[in-house]
Amino acid sequence: MTYEVFATQQEAVKNLAAEVAELIRSRAAEGKGVVLGLATGASPLGFYAELIRLHKEEGLSFKNVTTFNLDEYYGLPREHVESYWYFMHTNLFNHIDIPAENINLPSGTVAQEDIEAHCQAYEDKIKACGGLDLQILGIGRTGHIGFNEPGSDDTTRTRQVHLDDLTKTDAAPAFGGFENVPSYAITMGVATIMDAKKLRLMAWGEKKASIVNKAINGPVTADVAASYLQKHPDAKYFLDAAAASEL
Ligand code: GLP
Repeated sequence: MTYEVFATQQEAVKNLAAEVAELIRSRAAEGKGVVLGLATGASPLGFYAELIRLHKEEGLSFKNVTTFNLDEYYGLPREHVESYWYFMHTNLFNHIDIPAENINLPSGTVAQEDIEAHCQAYEDKIKACGGLDLQILGIGRTGHIGFNEPGSDDTTRTRQVHLDDLTKTDAAPAFGGFENVPSYAITMGVATIMDAKKLRLMAWGEKKASIVNKAINGPVTADVAASYLQKHPDAKYFLDAAAASEL
């Protein structure tokens, strides 16, 4: 696992987007596809804006790209403005040429009794596509990646999870209050994420400094799911100076 501290978030996301663009182009040149794992939240917004710019201004095509998102709130339909389906379409998919059939997110509306089969199908589809080539990550203040809250160990796979109160507190403004934040989500597990060939985690600002330090320098533990990145052969943190200030 490595990390790099950039002068600005803009510089960091340009660097990461260039790496992803190179991966997409080199695979396209071989007539092959790329499987990207994607994340939501504020952290990857600049990265998605840069991918859109590369598409519009530099001809980067996403026709050979398949995506799997990390997670989705349970109980939210796709049209809900806080659903991750809506987030991804608004902030990325609607602005690039990715084929709609290549886009995968867990469902927020699958019936409770069908959740297990739905999660297994998600895992199976990732495998059938050849596995995740590169997984984009943010980090929550509980140390979660996806929605793998404290207690999620490195055997966890795609499943329904209960959200931590701190996670709900952080999401409360967007939902107009804590009580409106869904209590459950469907998320890839730590093992699903660790199976990706490359992991790229973005964290910005001093609010993330403490948890970034714990994840990078603390023990590898299910209490901080991001700490498992220490055991991954090709994981990298992209940080700004504020997020790196406690390292
Ligand atoms: C949510 C998402 C995570 C994300 C985290 C941090 O909980 N499920 O994937 O990393 O929020 O969000 P932000 O980037 O807005 O700080």
